[in-house]
Amino acid sequence: MLPLARMAEAVLTTADARDKTALSRRHAAAWHAARAEGRLPEIGTAAPPLRPARPDKPDLLAPRDVPRRRPGTREGRLALLHAVAHIELNAVDLHWDIIARFTHVPMPSGFYDDWVRAADEESKHFNLVADCLEAMGSHYGALPAHAGMWRAAEDTRDDLMGRLAVVPMVLEARGLDVTPTMIETFRKAKDDPAAAQAVAALEVIYAEEVHHVAYGSKWFHFLCGRENADPKDAFHGLVRHYFHGALKPPFNEEKRAEAGLPPDFYWPLAD
Ligand SMILES: [Fe+2]
Ligand SMILES: [Fe+2]
Repeated sequence: MLPLARMAEAVLTTADARDKTALSRRHAAAWHAARAEGRLPEIGTAAPPLRPARPDKPDLLAPRDVPRRRPGTREGRLALLHAVAHIELNAVDLHWDIIARFTHVPMPSGFYDDWVRAADEESKHFNLVADCLEAMGSHYGALPAHAGMWRAAEDTRDDLMGRLAVVPMVLEARGLDVTPTMIETFRKAKDDPAAAQAVAALEVIYAEEVHHVAYGSKWFHFLCGRENADPKDAFHGLVRHYFHGALKPPFNEEKRAEAGLPPDFYWPLAD
């Protein structure tokens, strides 16, 4: 079995999306099987690429250049699912990247258990959404996607607390805010034969993303405790430093609370 950081590097350097998620799930299964037997495989070190390998398609455009489509149409729902697939693929790489990039920071083994599980779940999410696209006669790569989704990872490549603050506790928490509306969009599309499949996929995503935000909050608080820093002040400082722009209400306060994100963390950063 490869050291965990090398497994992460192998996922990050795999370009094809289905190959990436398949490798990710195999590596996660190997890790969890070893842990279930009471073993702690070597973490090791790796040289993760600054940007992960990605397929030739989709074309990546600046957010302002990605065409907007009305969500009430089939074309609009297709575009929405395509955007979600892109986010999920990015998330696979984000979770393996946090494993590979910060091996110089000593962390308890639970840190690795959590992010391996999150990476595995993101791989499942991508596959579920890519299956929906295919059921609708399309595929991941058929539409342009947002460039710059990796920016948060690049900006925080030297700062584990910054990474935890911006990626799980801001970006993934935002997913908790917007997913219920997406589920509603597909629930309303009763004439679309693929809509029920999309609802099912989005419900899996919605349920599992709570854990990813919670892992972020857990390890952020752990590091604050180790450095004797006030978590709320540290969070505000890091988000203002690394995240470009204000947080957008409305917030899903209930799910955020379930994930260990209290209102005084995010409200002061809103518009
Ligand atoms: Fe996800
Ligand atoms: Fe996630």
